[in-house]
Amino acid sequence: AGVRHYKWEVKYDYRSPDCYKKLVITINGKTPGPTIQAQEGDTVVVEVNNKLLTENLAIHWHGIRQIGTPWFDGTEGVSQCPILPGDTFVYRFVVDRPGTYLYHAHYGMQREAGVYGMIRVAPNDPEPFSYDFDRSIILNDWYHRSTYEQSARLSAIPFQWVGEPDSLLIHGKGRYNCSLLPSLPAAGVCNSSNPECSPFSQTVVSGKTYRIRVASLTALSALSFQIEGHNMTVVEADGHYVDPFVVKNLYIYSGETYSVLVKTDQDPSRNYWITSNVVSRNRTTPPGLGIFNYYPNHPMRSPPTSPPPPPAWDNVESRHTQSLAIKAHQNYTIKPPTTSDRVIVLLNTQNTIDNVRHWSVNNVSFFLPHTPYLVALKENITGEFNQTPPPDGYDFNNYDIFSVANNTNATSSNGIYRLKFNTTVDIILQNANTMNKNNSETHPWHLHGHDFWVLGYGKGKFDANKDPKNYNLVNPIMKNTVPVHSFGWTALRFRSDNPGVWAFHCHIESHFYMGMGVVFEEGIERVGKLPSSIMGCGKSKGFLGHN
Ligand code: C2O
Ligand code: CU
Repeated sequence: AGVRHYKWEVKYDYRSPDCYKKLVITINGKTPGPTIQAQEGDTVVVEVNNKLLTENLAIHWHGIRQIGTPWFDGTEGVSQCPILPGDTFVYRFVVDRPGTYLYHAHYGMQREAGVYGMIRVAPNDPEPFSYDFDRSIILNDWYHRSTYEQSARLSAIPFQWVGEPDSLLIHGKGRYNCSLLPSLPAAGVCNSSNPECSPFSQTVVSGKTYRIRVASLTALSALSFQIEGHNMTVVEADGHYVDPFVVKNLYIYSGETYSVLVKTDQDPSRNYWITSNVVSRNRTTPPGLGIFNYYPNHPMRSPPTSPPPPPAWDNVESRHTQSLAIKAHQNYTIKPPTTSDRVIVLLNTQNTIDNVRHWSVNNVSFFLPHTPYLVALKENITGEFNQTPPPDGYDFNNYDIFSVANNTNATSSNGIYRLKFNTTVDIILQNANTMNKNNSETHPWHLHGHDFWVLGYGKGKFDANKDPKNYNLVNPIMKNTVPVHSFGWTALRFRSDNPGVWAFHCHIESHFYMGMGVVFEEGIERVGKLPSSIMGCGKSKGFLGHN
């Protein structure tokens, strides 16, 4: 196995990804940042120089399990102190599995400022499908308001919601209708003829099979992705081979990655639309549009048809059906343990705590400590976080998930779950009504440090006596991010076999900021000597000398 070395400079830049000019954060001048390409088993070294003169930084390698290197997970407050302005931090980790992964900032709401990109790990062994070309598309949504204003709004009294995104980006390109601005701002702020916001165009040749790696790093939106006139065969999900199935539109949630195979078998004399549309929220954001360009047509030539209509935003049924269709490929199935040692039910609710709107899990809204858990636990620094763990469930019989509940007993805490090492843990994500009538949102939950088996999805309230009997223990897919659908539940299983401290949270940037997350510790006593580079904040300062 080899070593892949990257040198990154992270700094502020002005960009107009959707024609509207704003301050963004780039990596080596780019957003999305450079793609990391490696071979299974390689060591990836990324030297990150924080050139943001007024802002901390941390970069998370989303989907990489960090076996043996929990300190390089890049999660501020959990695995490391933030990288200070001017400092360089060196991440070094092994990409032990092939597949499609992501990276992004994991400090405050910084990911939304443009700090994200893809990791592609080539396999050592043959894959269960073949293709002629390998391409990538990262989907995102985009706000014109800065991430600082957004977080200030979310913490303000009274609470101010960040609202729907202004546009959808396809591989960093979107199009905002500048004439919608209340009064046209100074020339140059929104300019629809700026080449920076010309649409994303994927050139293809006729009669081939393309593997397209589709990933979502949206701040808020669940998406439906489609290539006009072309079916997609889903073959990979979060780095695991899927029992192939065909879709017209791919539902994709923030933090997920898929590979789809697309045959270029349509009329080659024209171009086709690539579309991305908001689902699960009553959409006000216009569709993201790109061009699927058959060579030798001009890559910017608009297709002669109108973009295909998206599925109804509130069609939960079809999203539920697609989730159920994702199963492990028969030759690559890793069987889950048939029983679990511990079941943790996580009820997802909205609450008001001290007049501010929060998200909570079992009535506890999460916040990060100043000293990273990994350092506090490993070095026995006490008093840095609440030692009372959050509850393993909620009052099942008496909680009505279908109505607005005031949950006046909600609290805020930075307490964590301590898992017994090498045990099997089941998580039941239970969705519920928000603080608005007849409303339940979709939440993509992402687990650091592990892949988990997706045992099942259900509608309504999870039934602990009945539902586990229908778990898929035969060919469940393994993933690192999974949606819990409106008014439904999702069941997962994982092994607590990776010594470290790992976040598990909703991948919606504002939801995590509002408390929608938990943290698991497992096998802390087996964690090796911590590098001093992750220390330097809070009470971890005192341990710098130890290394
Ligand atoms: Cu992709 Cu904790 O996040
Ligand atoms: Cu959420």
